[in-house]
Amino acid sequence: MSNENTPIVSVRGLTKTYDGGHQALKGIDLDIREGEILALLGPNGAGKTTLISTVCGLVTPSSGTVTVGGHDIIKDYRVTRKLIGLVPQELTLGAFDLVGDTVRFSRGLFGLPPNEDRIDEILTDLSLIDKKDDPVNRLSGGMKRRVLIAKALSHEPRVLFLDEPTAGVDVELRKDMWKLVEKLRQDGVTIILTTHYIEEAEEIADRVGVISDGRLLVIDEKANLMASLGRKQLMVDLRAPVEVLPDSLSKFNLERSDDGLRLTYTFDTQGERTGITALLQALNAAGIGLKDLNTSQSSLEDIFVNLVHRDHER
Ligand SMILES: Nc1ncnc2c1ncn2[C@@H]1O[C@H](COP(=O)(O)OP(=O)(O)OP(=O)(O)O)[C@@H](O)[C@H]1O
Ligand SMILES: [Mg+2]
Repeated sequence: MSNENTPIVSVRGLTKTYDGGHQALKGIDLDIREGEILALLGPNGAGKTTLISTVCGLVTPSSGTVTVGGHDIIKDYRVTRKLIGLVPQELTLGAFDLVGDTVRFSRGLFGLPPNEDRIDEILTDLSLIDKKDDPVNRLSGGMKRRVLIAKALSHEPRVLFLDEPTAGVDVELRKDMWKLVEKLRQDGVTIILTTHYIEEAEEIADRVGVISDGRLLVIDEKANLMASLGRKQLMVDLRAPVEVLPDSLSKFNLERSDDGLRLTYTFDTQGERTGITALLQALNAAGIGLKDLNTSQSSLEDIFVNLVHRDHER
C-alpha cells in the first residue's frame, strides 16, 4: 500500500444513476496518489459530492469499481471505511452533543481504542480545544465545520475527503484550513477536496481535476494545467482601423476585432520565444500604427470556465 506507484484510491468506469433516472456520474476513471492534495473543481450539480460519497461508501455505484488502499469499497467496506475520513458538504451534527463527546464517539464508531490525548491533539490543531465541553449548537458555522473535520480525523484516516470545506467560511478561517490541510499532508494523509474557490485550488492543490456533467474533463498537475491550457494574449490597439490584414502578418494568426481597431495575438506561455518582437516589427513594416499594448494571462479560472463552457456546447 505504501508503494509510491500504487494509487491509494483507484476509480474505474464509475457511473451513478440516481433513482428517478438522473445520471450524475457518466464513467469516471481516476487514480489518486498517496500523499497528494487533489482539488476537484466543477459547477453546481457536476457530480463532485456524488463521486466523493461513492468512494466513501455512502452512495452505491451503478457500475464500475473503486478501491482504497487496494481494497474494494463494496467487498471490503470495513477495511476501506477505516482508511477514509469524510467531512461532508452539509453540516450534520447533533444539536445537543458536546464537542469532545461527538469527536470521541466518531472514533469509537470505527472500533478504535479511546485515546484522549489524540482527541485533544486534534481539537488543538483545529483551535477547538477550549470548546471541548461546549454544546455543538452554541458554536458558529465555521466552528461547526471544524468539529466535522475533528470527527473525520478522529479515527486517524489515511485519506481525507473534504467536500467544500471552506464554503461560507471567512478568509481567516479559510487560511487556517489551508494550513491544517498542509499539516495533514506532512503527516502523510492524502487529501481530496472539492471547492468552488479556484484560488483555493491554486493555493493548496498538487493536482486539479475538473468535473462537469458527470465527467472528469481533465486532471493534471496544477502547473501543467496552467501551462498546457494557459495562454497569454497581447492586445494591440491601432490608431486607425485595418480592413484586411497584410499577408506578412498571416503567420501570427491575429484576431481582428469587428471595428478593426484591435488585433489580438495569442501565444504559448511555455514557448521559448513569444514572437512579440517579430510581430511588432511586422506591424511597423506594414505601416500599421499602434496606440496601445496590453497583455492578459489566462488564470486557472479562465481555464476552468473555458473547459466547462466547451463541455456544455458538446
Ligand atoms: N440523492 C439524490 N437523488 C437524486 N439525484 C441526486 C441525488 N443527489 C444528487 N443528485 C443529482 O445528481 C447531480 C450531481 O449532484 P452532486 O451533489 O454530486 O453535485 P456537486 O458537484 O456536488 O454540486 P455542488 O457543487 O452544488 O455541491 C445533480 O443533478 C443532483 O441534483
Ligand atoms: Mg457537492
